Amino acid sequence: MTNDTIHLSPPDVGPLEERYAISAIRSGWVAPLGPEVDAFESEVASRVGTSHAVATNSGTAALHLGLLALGARPEQVVIVPTLTFAATANAVVYTGARPFFVDCDPLTGNIDVDLLETALTRLRRDGREVAAVIPVDMFGRCADYERILPMCAEAGVPVLEDAAEALGATRAGRAAGSFGRAGVLSFNGNKIITTSGGGMLLTEDAALAERVRYLATQARQPVWHYEHVDIGYNYRLSNVLAAIGRAQLRRLDTMIGRRRDLRESYAKLFAAVPGVDLLGEGDPGDNCWLTVIVVDPDEAGWDARELAAHLADRHIETRPVWMPMHLQPVHSGAEAALTGAAERLFTTGLTLPSGSAMTDSHRARVEQAIDDFLTTR
Ligand SMILES: Cc1ncc(COP(=O)(O)O)c(C=O)c1O
Repeated sequence: MTNDTIHLSPPDVGPLEERYAISAIRSGWVAPLGPEVDAFESEVASRVGTSHAVATNSGTAALHLGLLALGARPEQVVIVPTLTFAATANAVVYTGARPFFVDCDPLTGNIDVDLLETALTRLRRDGREVAAVIPVDMFGRCADYERILPMCAEAGVPVLEDAAEALGATRAGRAAGSFGRAGVLSFNGNKIITTSGGGMLLTEDAALAERVRYLATQARQPVWHYEHVDIGYNYRLSNVLAAIGRAQLRRLDTMIGRRRDLRESYAKLFAAVPGVDLLGEGDPGDNCWLTVIVVDPDEAGWDARELAAHLADRHIETRPVWMPMHLQPVHSGAEAALTGAAERLFTTGLTLPSGSAMTDSHRARVEQAIDDFLTTR
């Protein structure tokens, strides 16, 4: 079979996940709570090194509730990198607060820390209330927390880490998801581990975790009848899906190893190609979720879209990096501090197939197709 589509980052699930899911179903706990949810929370918290974890039915839900628990409300702004997936900015809008977009570092794709500092200073000077900063660990690489955390502490603004793409990544020995007042993971189908859909909020703050757990379970009062004093949400993760997540977590390091191996093959393939760099190359804590090449068309003599079209003809999926939030029609008019770096990455960056389930023959097909493209240039 030579023409089956090779996807960017498909789920990598097999017999272990099947066994865990069946066992959860047979236990009778087919509900958005149960022993698998409890165990998954404590296993992920221990992997990341936080004391508390609340499993949710998506990373977006965890971001939303994290912001609510930090007190985000209308009239406030939340600083968000413009280079991110829409969920980061949308979660801000759900609370009534407004996103303020900050451009990225062109070498890593993560938030530009100098620009963040300027934005924080300006907003404070103008008497604006900043509910939170949400750095995103882009494509599985931690943001520069050595600078971000003291800067935000000094400004009195909490950090909510969007580590949706970064489970298993580290920075200076500390795990992604553990950096801010709270961190958020995603277990969506394309992530490094998946529950098909799911997320988690991680924190050292017991009261914040309790608040998120309460809001995620319809904000029910602890009484026999159904009583509510707050608007709640139905955001908890199902017990059956948590079981799949536990199986995936056992395989996390192997799956990261496979993605890293793939990254190294791409690095070799493009090493001698003028005008092509790997985004964020050289970060030892990278979980290698997606490999992104950045193509300078003047130097390379071709552009990222041409390679994408060549691969698409051969049933190989690629995608541009995230379209920056300040260019999204839905967020038009939002305030922003920009350098043009995210827009450049949007036109010059290309994400390549990076899934841990890629077979040797898939890898050979992708490498051959890239090689064919490069030799015709
Ligand atoms: C950076 C980022 N934030 C948030 C999310 C939202 O996670 P979910 O799809 O689990 O809602 C995603 C992925 O989908 C993401 O890549």
